[in-house]
Amino acid sequence: MELTKQIEKRRTFGIISHPDAGKTTLTEKLLLFGGAIQSAGAVKSNKIKDHARSDWMEIEKQRGISVATSVMGFNYKDKKINILDTPGHQDFAEDTYRTLTAVDSVIMVIDCVKGVEKQTEKLMEVCRMRNTPVICFINKLDREGRDPYELLDEIEEKLSIKVRPLSWPIGMGKSFKGVYNLFDKSLYLFEPSKKKLEETGIAIENIHDSILEEKIGDLDAAGLREDIELVEGVYPEFAVDDYLSGNVAPVFFGSAVNNFGVKELLDTFINIAPPPKSRETEQRIVQPDENKFSGFVFKIHANMDPRHRNRIAFIRVCSGKFERGKNYHHVRLEKNFRFSNATAFLAQDRETIDEAWPGDIIGIYDTGNLKIGDALTEGEKANYKGIPSFSPEIFKEVINQDAMKSKQLSKGLDQLMEEGVAQIFNYEMGNRKVVGTVGALQFEVIQHRLKNEYGATCRFVPINLFKACWVSSNDKKKLDEFIKSKYRHIAHDKDGKLVFMAETKAWLQMVQDNFPEINFHFTSEY
Ligand code: G4P
Repeated sequence: MELTKQIEKRRTFGIISHPDAGKTTLTEKLLLFGGAIQSAGAVKSNKIKDHARSDWMEIEKQRGISVATSVMGFNYKDKKINILDTPGHQDFAEDTYRTLTAVDSVIMVIDCVKGVEKQTEKLMEVCRMRNTPVICFINKLDREGRDPYELLDEIEEKLSIKVRPLSWPIGMGKSFKGVYNLFDKSLYLFEPSKKKLEETGIAIENIHDSILEEKIGDLDAAGLREDIELVEGVYPEFAVDDYLSGNVAPVFFGSAVNNFGVKELLDTFINIAPPPKSRETEQRIVQPDENKFSGFVFKIHANMDPRHRNRIAFIRVCSGKFERGKNYHHVRLEKNFRFSNATAFLAQDRETIDEAWPGDIIGIYDTGNLKIGDALTEGEKANYKGIPSFSPEIFKEVINQDAMKSKQLSKGLDQLMEEGVAQIFNYEMGNRKVVGTVGALQFEVIQHRLKNEYGATCRFVPINLFKACWVSSNDKKKLDEFIKSKYRHIAHDKDGKLVFMAETKAWLQMVQDNFPEINFHFTSEY
């Protein structure tokens, strides 16, 4: 059947790393191998470097670029591969977490000099929550990095996942000779090259074959044999199921910038990575091979062109076939919509498409009907689960700087919040607006975008707040009493949900003790 065939063909994965480990470089090389781009340098970084903190143009530029590059589809061998790029900068971690809900597996890039870094740990937590299968690519072997055994131990320890090397490096840095692939039993010799695309292994069935001496010299051959024996002895045999269940991460070594180890990674990836998986809705589990289309929005990108207020919603197709121009049901709004302008994301472009299959990511131009987390179906009331929202950590009050533009400010804030940039809390008292974010950089982005896209000027004043707590209760009377008594600290989020703004940890504890009938939640999902 066409649907089953299309599902089997697709591999949708996210590529994650701490900034600078080589995510952009690896992505680009994967696209080169896939023939999706012709030259290096074609993929622009989706990252916002630290030095860009005060460089608005840079943020603006990267924001524009990040749409084109955040989803890249290409064909490789008989597979259709969709790569979802994620911003590495921690202030944009929310965006990354949401993107991870739309993938079936992950490739994690680790710098062999720096080892497991902070952001990698956080991202891995998200993968573990969903048992997402992970492949590790240890990068920059052309540099003097850390001992491979030490790196593997660190991954196991810090990322709480078992590892299984599928390739093993021969030397490192200046003396890096190549890798031995334990999976296909071949030797790959390293030649630093930014252009070369061929990577042919020398089949070495028996590690004791003297061809090893011939290719890498006596000393390295002896060392490699020892390492292989040790690896085969220490690590259990690789079982694809352990990888698919998220329990074991296969590890590859290479150098992305030198195109080394990338093709091997890609070839193994298409061999073992999972095709589109089933997904949970609040009502039931949806299988990709169900005939009826369904999908959910995991990302919104607004104001692609400031002259037209259009937004692009990124939708992961979960089941069935999406057809352009067909009527689909918007579950939250309980309304039917026809989307005549769906686009697919290719390596460098966007292209109008007529159909899409499970695992595909489609972009839909929208004027404000779609929000993050929204589900589209053929009529079923199914809400996809697990689009995370976050407990904000930094709070600032918005002060309007231009009385003539207060409408623009409100509108801009509303739309940016829908895009998921931050969360807004409207106080019951005094018309105060407070914005809560996970990272400090968001405030600068919001301020900049409000000015550029909406013509509104504002400033942010830091306020002392410990937590925003969404409150609920089964007892309406008690809830009313609570609201009355804490009136000054009650706000509403963008959807009108009740939020108690707690100033300190101790005070929150006291309030919780005094109002046992009230439930306090730290994210808007409960
Ligand atoms: P990111 O997206 O994870 O943030 O990393 P990115 O690919 O931008 O790579 C970060 C830096 O690491 C880049 O250098 C890149 O060239 C370099 N790099 C990537 N792979 C390798 C590798 O295998 N070996 C070595 N030695 N370096 C590698 P940059 O100086 O920051 O930028 P650029 O001017 O080279 O682009």
